[in-house]
Amino acid sequence: MHRFDEEEKKLAASIIEYAIDRIATESVPLDGPKSSKELAALYGANISEDGIGGEEALRRFAQGYAPATLTSDNPRSWAFVPVAPTKAATLFDLVVSASCISGTTWIEGAGAIYLENEALSWLASLAGLPSGAGGTFVSGGSAGNLAGMVAGRERARRLGTLNGKGAVMASADAHSSVTMAARITDVDVVLAKGDAKGKLTGAALKETFVSLDHDDQKRMFAVFATAGVTNTGIVDDLASVAEFCKDHGLWMHVDAAYGGAGLSTPTVRNLFNGIEFANSLVIDPHKWLFAPFDCAAIIYADPADGARAMTQEASYLDDVNKDRDWNPASFAYHLTRRVRGLPFWFSLATYGVRAYREAIEQTLRIAEFCASEIRTRPYLELAIEPELSVVVFRRSGWRDQDYVAWCDKLLEDQIAFVQPTTYQGERLMRFCFVNPLTSKFDVTEVLDTMAPAQL
Ligand SMILES: Cc1ncc(COP(=O)(O)O)c(C=O)c1O
Repeated sequence: MHRFDEEEKKLAASIIEYAIDRIATESVPLDGPKSSKELAALYGANISEDGIGGEEALRRFAQGYAPATLTSDNPRSWAFVPVAPTKAATLFDLVVSASCISGTTWIEGAGAIYLENEALSWLASLAGLPSGAGGTFVSGGSAGNLAGMVAGRERARRLGTLNGKGAVMASADAHSSVTMAARITDVDVVLAKGDAKGKLTGAALKETFVSLDHDDQKRMFAVFATAGVTNTGIVDDLASVAEFCKDHGLWMHVDAAYGGAGLSTPTVRNLFNGIEFANSLVIDPHKWLFAPFDCAAIIYADPADGARAMTQEASYLDDVNKDRDWNPASFAYHLTRRVRGLPFWFSLATYGVRAYREAIEQTLRIAEFCASEIRTRPYLELAIEPELSVVVFRRSGWRDQDYVAWCDKLLEDQIAFVQPTTYQGERLMRFCFVNPLTSKFDVTEVLDTMAPAQL
């Protein structure tokens, strides 16, 4: 099991061949879920006293279970927030697995952590954060938002500005993980009304804040703004949010888990003005920055804020905690950590920033193309003008069940994977584009299936 003998050599060849095949195929079938009953019927139990052997386990995975697993990087996967890893990022993910690096503390993972930090610095510089900004890569935007919540509250406690149970302000369109982070940390979320597009603004925050009684105002320690709302792609008015936070001594957290990629392109960069004042910032390279799952950055303007809140104290860690060169364990709730930022770093180093910018621009162009197609089709209507790469629209005459049936049929026919959403109380269609391989033809072919004559 732990020796690389003849059997493992053979298995290595099969696995590498499978992986390369998967990586080399540009349009892997979408595939789709099966029920657990159907899956159980495939091969019965896979785990047995004597083992079934690697070749057989691989065969079962490739032929039975992988086809029951949606291909998130298919160019027609537009539900939720999909993923589109670069080839270099995916290939290097194999290297990360093979290298068995602990990215927990500097003493264990110095070289790899140094490189992850280079990628973090690039993200921080896109946002215009101070030069010392830093943090770590966590499993996802949810973990990043939790880290921002904990660090913001800890600072308020340290400064003595928090009285009683903590509270934060956010818009109703903030990601559900903000509410979850608040639940975990026993913090209240006060919703401030967004503008017509749902954007959180300084004025809305002020209106909500002054409506609170004095005691509740004293419980407020942070604002959670969103740069790229998951549902609509809308970016909050970060400049006025920053001003509000400054005026009230509040921690500013920006959840750019999905939208942060837009920072790198001149086309939409101005939407993010004010992000440079964030105390904590989340950007997920596994969303629109072409990294494989799971890779999200939590970056603190002053990393000491993160470390004060997150460093675990234990006798066996005393010495590494003294070595403060850069322990990723100090910047989120975790200890053991895969160096999940390395595939992202490798890809950035391989292709360069220009290639990233161009690939992101391409997805923005596809979103704009999709929006323009919707404008020209009488049976479709945009629900909101897109700002980034999310397009939300209605099909005239359709009700909830029509959207669901259409989505199911598209997947059944292996045409696309899409999911409806609800926006301002209305059931609608939502596409999220993050894959530069998505073509205009892909978009028109899918929209064509919504035409009345097709139904
Ligand atoms: C804006 C935003 N924040 C947070 C999250 C949660 O990220 P994750 O699924 O990586 O935990 C998402 C997920 O789509 C998101 O879009």
